[in-house]
Amino acid sequence: MNNRIFLSAPHMGGNEIKYIQEAFDANYISPVGEQITKFEEAIKSFTGAKHAVALSSGTAALHLALRTLGVKDGDEVLASSFTFIGGVAPIMYERCTPFFIDSDEDSWNLDPLLLLEALESRKKSGSKMPKALIVAHLYGQAAKMDEIVAICDKYGVAIIEDAAESLGATVGGKHTGTIGKAGIYSFNGNKIITSSGGGMLVTDDEEVAKEARFLSTQAKEPFLHYEHETYGYNYRMSNIVAAIGRGQMEVLPQRVGRRREIFALYKELLKDIPEVKFMPEIAGSRGNRWLTTFYMDKKLKTTPDEIIKALEAQNIESRPLWKPMHTQPVFKDAPHLTNDFSEMLFERGLCLPSGSSMEDEDVMLVAKIVRDVIKK
Ligand SMILES: Cc1ncc(COP(=O)(O)O)c(C=O)c1O
Repeated sequence: MNNRIFLSAPHMGGNEIKYIQEAFDANYISPVGEQITKFEEAIKSFTGAKHAVALSSGTAALHLALRTLGVKDGDEVLASSFTFIGGVAPIMYERCTPFFIDSDEDSWNLDPLLLLEALESRKKSGSKMPKALIVAHLYGQAAKMDEIVAICDKYGVAIIEDAAESLGATVGGKHTGTIGKAGIYSFNGNKIITSSGGGMLVTDDEEVAKEARFLSTQAKEPFLHYEHETYGYNYRMSNIVAAIGRGQMEVLPQRVGRRREIFALYKELLKDIPEVKFMPEIAGSRGNRWLTTFYMDKKLKTTPDEIIKALEAQNIESRPLWKPMHTQPVFKDAPHLTNDFSEMLFERGLCLPSGSSMEDEDVMLVAKIVRDVIKK
């Protein structure tokens, strides 16, 4: 049996271990230390964000984005339905109501027309307006930020970008994550770069960054003893974890380049099957192609499950696309505005192994199995 081909395996650059050693030499084995500062600096200089706060996960970063924007207790928060639960669970932590919006065909991300419809209907009915929108840039591909920003500006809705999967992607010349009021990245083990687990909140608003830092370290007031006017969290990133992240930042451009090559190779190898529709890249954007994803037009009888099983039989990992949040049992009562597109993606789509350490031969093997199942 061949070595397992994973969906997205960690891919170290080499210097991570050196920076971990630096942290050990300094004896900063805690959520304080130079590695954290260096990792934050690297994210700021790469993305152009004014402030960056290193945290224990992308989910924690989203939670702090909501807290710092004052979203709480019964507020409605608009969110992409086609996403991963970590991108919306923090809405529940703050006792708010998620309002899920479907995707459109040209971006697979949040549909601006549905967003506009949702906001207009809220306005017309005189209901309380949603305070924030969490927009995901899924699989490393950008959402239609020009339109989304214009709509949210009109209705006074703060934008939080869930760029957990899209570090290194740009749209309109800006990095995803740096366009809204706040953005977040994830360094979970399967992401384009990993720190073994972790997240980062980025913002141009100094107050948001200051408050996020304060809340992430148990909201301690500046006294020698422990004094608290509010409660916080233990969300700060460890110095050891940051050392890995710092090393990974040095190879991020190569990782994006390789993932894009892998996508291009899959596309080339399957180009004669027009019913295989790969995730698009909207005009003016450059995705990081974190995962190569596609759906199969109804004309094909093949199901994603058949492909996943055939790949698994060859020790290759693949996955269905995200199951939309408005169809999840936990959100059965949540308001939503949908067009069936994300449900179709879930039924007919899948993610192919896309790790940057994959060889071209691995990609060819995966593509051959996909082709064989479709053509059988
Ligand atoms: C779209 C999306 N949002 C949020 C998260 C949460 O990030 P983390 O796992 O670092 O908490 C992830 C990844 O896991 C994700 O893919």
